[in-house]
Amino acid sequence: MDAVDAAVDIPGLVELARLPGISRGELLADLTQADLTQAEPLQAVTTLRRERPDLSPTLASAVIAQRGYQAKAKALGALPEGGPWLTTEVGLEQASRPEVAEHRAATLAAAGVRAVVDTCAGIGMDSRAFLAAGLEVVAFERDPVTFEVCRANLEHAVEVFGGRAGIECTDSTEAGVIAAAVAALPSPVAVFVDPARRGAHRPVDGTRSRSERDKELWSPPWSFVEHIRDQFACIAVKTPPGFNPDAQWKAEWVAVGSSVVECALYSPPASKGAERTATILSDSNEWSLDFDIDAVRPTAFGLRGFLAEVHPVARRTGALAQICADAPNLAPVTDATMWITADSPEPASPALRWFEVLGFGSLDQVASMCQERGIERVALKTVESKRSQGDIRTRLGLADGDEYAIVVIAELRDYVLVRRMQQT
Ligand SMILES: C[S@@+](CC[C@H](N)C(=O)[O-])C[C@H]1O[C@@H](n2cnc3c(N)ncnc32)[C@H](O)[C@@H]1O
Repeated sequence: MDAVDAAVDIPGLVELARLPGISRGELLADLTQADLTQAEPLQAVTTLRRERPDLSPTLASAVIAQRGYQAKAKALGALPEGGPWLTTEVGLEQASRPEVAEHRAATLAAAGVRAVVDTCAGIGMDSRAFLAAGLEVVAFERDPVTFEVCRANLEHAVEVFGGRAGIECTDSTEAGVIAAAVAALPSPVAVFVDPARRGAHRPVDGTRSRSERDKELWSPPWSFVEHIRDQFACIAVKTPPGFNPDAQWKAEWVAVGSSVVECALYSPPASKGAERTATILSDSNEWSLDFDIDAVRPTAFGLRGFLAEVHPVARRTGALAQICADAPNLAPVTDATMWITADSPEPASPALRWFEVLGFGSLDQVASMCQERGIERVALKTVESKRSQGDIRTRLGLADGDEYAIVVIAELRDYVLVRRMQQT
């Protein structure tokens, strides 16, 4: 059984998606304002039908269901501005985050790509970003309900950004489907694959199903991705952050804030230059580091005056060794740790969160240091500790805080008391 990707047909959703854009826009815009404040969906449907007796019960339910999704998406930053964008529960879980989709689209546009075949369009959030970047799009989605949602979203995206988008409800793995779309588009064309990776079983508590680890059970399966890599000049693929790509792919691990959200793959010539990149996207800037997978982690040089916590995107990918190679003043504190140290808090980088070392010693000694300095709250950075965080917290008798922290560094006997430095 391959990954589960079919959307449950919400009564009225297809009807809503097929409304002329202007009517749908009005219905959803009204909803995002007034009705969002109402908690109970059934009551909201009744209110909506009182105001709009022309709506069928199923259409009103679909409108109200969108209310829940829009609120959830807003809280998570999961859908882009400029909506409302229609979604399904599954579609929302699987959609690319707006900043990541836009980054991918910008990468392709910067490489000279003019059009994209989106082979697994979902609710169309990547296709929307391709359009916004000025690329022409042909989107394929095989699930009929998700297709309707995607079609409505791409219609809206074309209104907002201009350009051209075609969409078909079809299985993109069928022979000749992608090739025909590529042939009809202005070249160079990128073929984008974002396989459905949700596991087949949804937990009984209703939480989202786990991602499928076996890439042959993704839809389309990994062997299909490798097959089309040999067929088309330019391929882009979205894979999970833990993916281990072979050397034939250019890979970019992308983080939003402090979470690594995906490993984006490109087959030439979509991206030029480094074979491996770590990127952090945030509201204020975009940071990228090309790293050499063979960069060697430097020898540890013990604890100095400043400590840096390394962003997971650098810690997990080998970019940490590159950061140290580029800044010889940095080195890990011990050979086993991910904490790096230096005599001054440099370089300033989104990949490094700097702390000033205030003292170190046994847990009791560090607790006394806190008392002497009047520190009443400390964060515990104890991922590398063999002792449980609860145990350390109890022994310290201090509440959780933000400005100060106690750090446990693998293979270092002492606990380290630090103060967080302002991020520049
Ligand atoms: C991960 S989602 C795509 C999300 C999309 N990139 C977005 O940002 O909205 C994968 C989608 O691919 C569709 N899909 C899976 N296999 C497919 C196939 N062989 N042909 C077309 N669509 C497929 C699924 O129905 C699902 O909606």
